[in-house]
Amino acid sequence: SYEYSDFNNVEFDSYMIPTNEISTDGFRLLDVDNRIVLPMNSQIRILVTAADVIHSWTIPALGVKVDGTPGRLNQTNFFINRPGLFYGQCSEICGANHSFMPIVIESVPVNYFIKWISNNVNSSLDDWK
Ligand code: CUA
Repeated sequence: SYEYSDFNNVEFDSYMIPTNEISTDGFRLLDVDNRIVLPMNSQIRILVTAADVIHSWTIPALGVKVDGTPGRLNQTNFFINRPGLFYGQCSEICGANHSFMPIVIESVPVNYFIKWISNNVNSSLDDWK
């Protein structure tokens, strides 16, 4: 679950797309229904926690790996210098569904991000063509 606390608390859940529902060009066990849209060329700070057990929010291409721990708020930051999709997966053995909690960031130009956050809706790159 994600919350954009600097932007009127836009919030949504992001679940893996099940294998039997994924499109032919989708990435099995990696694609999600709602991507995290973020502005490129902007310093991003994230706060990570958990509601049940310890997870690890990880995006290898960004060099980010931060534990989500119940009762704690962990903080990290990163900077994405290009548009595109950045994939990650939970990286702490957390239970039966550990293999099925991928992470997808959609990095977009700042003006697109403003438009997206203003619409308060979820989107994919296709919507910006
Ligand atoms: Cu959550 Cu592994």
